[in-house]
Amino acid sequence: MPDYEWQKKMVGRHAAQYVSNGMVIGLGTGSTVRYFAEALGNLVQDGVELRAVATSPQSRRLAEDNAITLLELDGAPRIDICVDGADEVATDLSMIKGGGGALLWEKIVACASARRIYIADSSKLVGRLGRRPLPVEVCQFGHSVVARKLGEHCDDVRLRVQGDHPFVTSSGNYLYDCAFGTIFNARELDALLNNIPGVVETGLFIQMVDVLVSFDGDTISCCESADEVWWN
Ligand code: 5RP
Repeated sequence: MPDYEWQKKMVGRHAAQYVSNGMVIGLGTGSTVRYFAEALGNLVQDGVELRAVATSPQSRRLAEDNAITLLELDGAPRIDICVDGADEVATDLSMIKGGGGALLWEKIVACASARRIYIADSSKLVGRLGRRPLPVEVCQFGHSVVARKLGEHCDDVRLRVQGDHPFVTSSGNYLYDCAFGTIFNARELDALLNNIPGVVETGLFIQMVDVLVSFDGDTISCCESADEVWWN
């Protein structure tokens, strides 16, 4: 059984190689990104000037803990690269994200970035998406009506909870985790779901990977297109 925590640390550290002095970085969310943020903290200690745009309160804390200057997205001059994790990466490099509940801000920041690096341990690599439920962010108003509509397209729809209450995203929305089973056409599904009034965003990230950093066996492996993937 691979040591996935070790892989997270290695891919997080590796991603720091894409960073250079003066960059504005979109800082993703999650346990893999934590290692990247620590590597950035070391660069800052060595005198490298970096600024970051956070994708969640958790990501903001990571920046603060590692002495990285924070910028608000609306005030940022540009974002040079964003580095983020993934819950599933398919062989066409489409992804499911949102396990940590930050998909909306993550997608906005990724779309605003000149270059997008995703870091994932090898447990995240799948043939097709759908092994895990797809997170869908839904506005609070009428959310149960929206959930019924979602349910017309999937096997199971679950409101994400935190303790005794619904989980509330950074934008004040709810999340529904939707079990679709194998997703054969992610683009079509994304369009279908986004067409339901009340759906704010889905956790499907399509054609957003510029570089994927992961593991092939015991070795870090990177790819920039579906032609270069090594798993199936
Ligand atoms: C948060 C995300 C994370 O990037 C994703 O859940 C991966 O997290 P981790 O690195 O902890 O496995 O999409 O919304």
